[in-house]
Amino acid sequence: MSTKTPTRFQPVLDEIVAILRPQLGQGGTVASYIPALARIDARQFGIALRTCDGEEAGAGDFETPFSIQSVSKLFTLTLAMQRMGDALWERIGREPSGNPFNSLVQLENEQGKPRNPFINAGAIAVADRLVSQAKAKGGSAKTDILRLMSSLCGEPIAFDGEVAQSEADTGFRNVALANFMKSFGKIDNDVAEVLDTYFHQCALRMSCRQLARAAAFLCRDGAHPIAGEPEVTGERQTRRINSLMLTCGTYDAAGDVAFSIGLPCKSGVGGGIVAVVPDQLTLCVWSPALDATGNSLLGMKALELFVARTGLSVF
Ligand code: DON
Repeated sequence: MSTKTPTRFQPVLDEIVAILRPQLGQGGTVASYIPALARIDARQFGIALRTCDGEEAGAGDFETPFSIQSVSKLFTLTLAMQRMGDALWERIGREPSGNPFNSLVQLENEQGKPRNPFINAGAIAVADRLVSQAKAKGGSAKTDILRLMSSLCGEPIAFDGEVAQSEADTGFRNVALANFMKSFGKIDNDVAEVLDTYFHQCALRMSCRQLARAAAFLCRDGAHPIAGEPEVTGERQTRRINSLMLTCGTYDAAGDVAFSIGLPCKSGVGGGIVAVVPDQLTLCVWSPALDATGNSLLGMKALELFVARTGLSVF
């Protein structure tokens, strides 16, 4: 693993932790609809980054593993784009939904084709594609996901079995979304198998340091974070993933996030957010208490502070 330290960004990360630590526990709520997430201590905050040339920095709880939840959608999309290229877009759109991440309403009028790969319906449709691709090679989509994540981090990454089970026990809306898409002929595989893949990808356990590293291909035109490994995606595909993160990565808050932060971001209800500064660095922030849109309250504040302090933005 080619990792260099220290980076010139370390003082910025330390300052952000110093500013935000007093605000821990003062707003937002931990996701409670998945029981295994409901008992996470909200008073945690971590931030890490990796520059294009392999420098890493972190502050606060940046080494603490957490449930990456919907941040995983960025990596399963990457895997599906690697495997299928443009054929993926026959089943999944590329428009912001303007609705909450687990909404069903648009699917009926749009013949079961999800608006984008980052709402739940879209990620379930991506999981279906991955199951088909894996089966064709006699493999398993869950193994493919673990292999990708471990390769990107240069260290083993695992699912949290308890979180995956908790998702399966309470994921009634996801079951409804998958069955609804299946009724339109838009899911090829057994719904239970597709959801098992989706619930497990959400239950990946990773730290801010690992996520900043895993996403590093997004600031390097698709080049693998580890020297000598084959590229993760081509330059064109990488640009497309970043643009989808900007327009759809934070659900119905995407417009506001583009306005106030101006970086491609992907969030999850575990409180993690990955952000990309193309050609410069990737960042991961984590704090479990969420705002009304399901994004990490202090995570968003941290990204605003980072952009204000460094002037880094795509605009
Ligand atoms: O589908 C769900 O409910 C979760 N496992 C993932 C949701 C999520 O992280 C959406 N993000 N903000």
